[in-house]
Order: sequence, then structure tokens, then C-alpha cells
Amino acid sequence: MPQPPPDTLVADRTPDDMARMFDQIAGRYDLLNRLLSGGRDRVWRVRAVESLQLQGGETVLDLCTGTADLLLALAAPRGPAARVVGIDFSVEMLRLASRKIHGSTVRGAAGLLRGDAERIPLADRSVDGATIGFGIRNVRDRMAALEEARRVLRPGGRLAILEFGAPGAAPVRAVYLWYFRRLLPLVGRLVSRHGSAYAYLPASVGAFPAPDAFCALLEEAGFSEVRCERLTLGIVCLYSARAV
Ligand SMILES: C[S@@+](CC[C@H](N)C(=O)[O-])C[C@H]1O[C@@H](n2cnc3c(N)ncnc32)[C@H](O)[C@@H]1O
Repeated sequence: MPQPPPDTLVADRTPDDMARMFDQIAGRYDLLNRLLSGGRDRVWRVRAVESLQLQGGETVLDLCTGTADLLLALAAPRGPAARVVGIDFSVEMLRLASRKIHGSTVRGAAGLLRGDAERIPLADRSVDGATIGFGIRNVRDRMAALEEARRVLRPGGRLAILEFGAPGAAPVRAVYLWYFRRLLPLVGRLVSRHGSAYAYLPASVGAFPAPDAFCALLEEAGFSEVRCERLTLGIVCLYSARAV
């Protein structure tokens, strides 16, 4: 099957290209997440859930849900939400998400929908919180996805976005960038058996706006109380915002 080169910008890939790439890596996605993050990905997801400041009993949307790890962290009994809905356009990711949900205690409270983050198939003001875990970087029209998230959130509802960044301090940054640009694509290629997906990861992170610019985008999309918290030395940014 033809694959776009790893340095092809997100804007040059069609949604079908992108969904196909995620279909192809779905089977090894969780294993690689644990391996490549040294297990930190679980901590990042918990921080994202906490930042929503849920009181218990809410309905929360997880956009770009993938294999549903963030969705599972949101839903009771592990998380505070009473009902969770995950949306993704990759059929294989959704298949794995569905299997995990059915094997968990949250199965009665979780729903999955196939759809595009740029056109969320939910009514206005229908959710109390929303999350996007390592997905916004892959969305072609990020402003459209952010405006859609704001549309489906009730006023006052919070959005939490996890995305990769890079450490600020020079020596740590150099070591991390070597790992991220050299070692990670190699391990990713060997384990996922996909030629380019894990080379696309650092390329797409490099093309993602700096934290200040992304915060400005969130404000432009109609969010207030926008902030960026750097997790694990800045390797990950947790963006949080409140729908107006
Ligand atoms: C890197 S994975 C992240 C999965 C999960 N949120 C996590 O934290 O592990 C990105 C996911 O976003 C999905 N995705 C990317 N762009 C999308 C879009 N425009 N609409 C819906 N899903 C999208 C992909 O199919 C993939 O499952």
C-alpha cells in the first residue's frame, strides 16, 4: 500500500491517508506508547483528566480517541465522568478501543463514534468537558476542530489537550531531540513494522505551533482561561481552556 513520506506535512495528507496510517499502526500502538514514553503516558492522561475539574456525573467527549486510553481514564470508576464518548476516524483504532471498553468496568457508560474532529457529530452544548490526547497535531484544519469542540461544549465546560513539546533547558533538550528524532523512529519502525509512521511523529511535532501560538489559536476559537502546563520537563504540553 502506498505511504506518504514521513516529512509530508499534515496539510498535504488527506483524512483518508491519515486514517490509513493509524489503521496500520493500531495493533502495536499501546505497546509503543508505553515503551517510547517509559510509562509516563498514563501520568499525562491523568493530569489531563484532572485539569477538566469535573465534579462527578458529567458527560465528556474524547476527540481523536485512538485506542481509548484517555477515554478509559475519564470514565468512572477510575475517572469522574458518568458518560464518555470517543470519536476517531480510524476504524482499526476504534476496533481496539471497543475491545478495551467491553473488557472494562466502564462499558455501560462509554460510546464510540466514527467521525472527523473537524465535523463533530454531536449537538451544540451537549458535553460538559472535552479532551484531545496527542491528536490535534494530526488534524488538518485545527481551527475548525477547536471551534467544533467549543460548539459542543456547554458554556463553562473545559477542554484539555495533550500534545508533544520539547524540553527548554539546552543539554536536556539536545539529548531528548536526539532520542525523539533518531532513536524513536527506529524503535517505532521495528516494533510497528510501519515504514514511516514513527518518522512522521517527530516531523509532525516539529511542524506544530509553539505553545504561545497554540494558546493564541485556542483564544481565537472562543476559549478563555487558556494555559499551557509543561509536563515531564516540557516533553508534553497540557493545554487547558474554558468554553465561553
Ligand atoms: C496519536 S493517536 C492518539 C490516540 C489517543 N488519543 C491517545 O492519547 O493515545 C491520534 C489519533 O487521532 C486520530 N485522528 C487524527 N486526526 C483525526 C481527525 N481529524 N478526526 C478524527 N480522528 C483523528 C487518529 O486516527 C488516531 O487514532
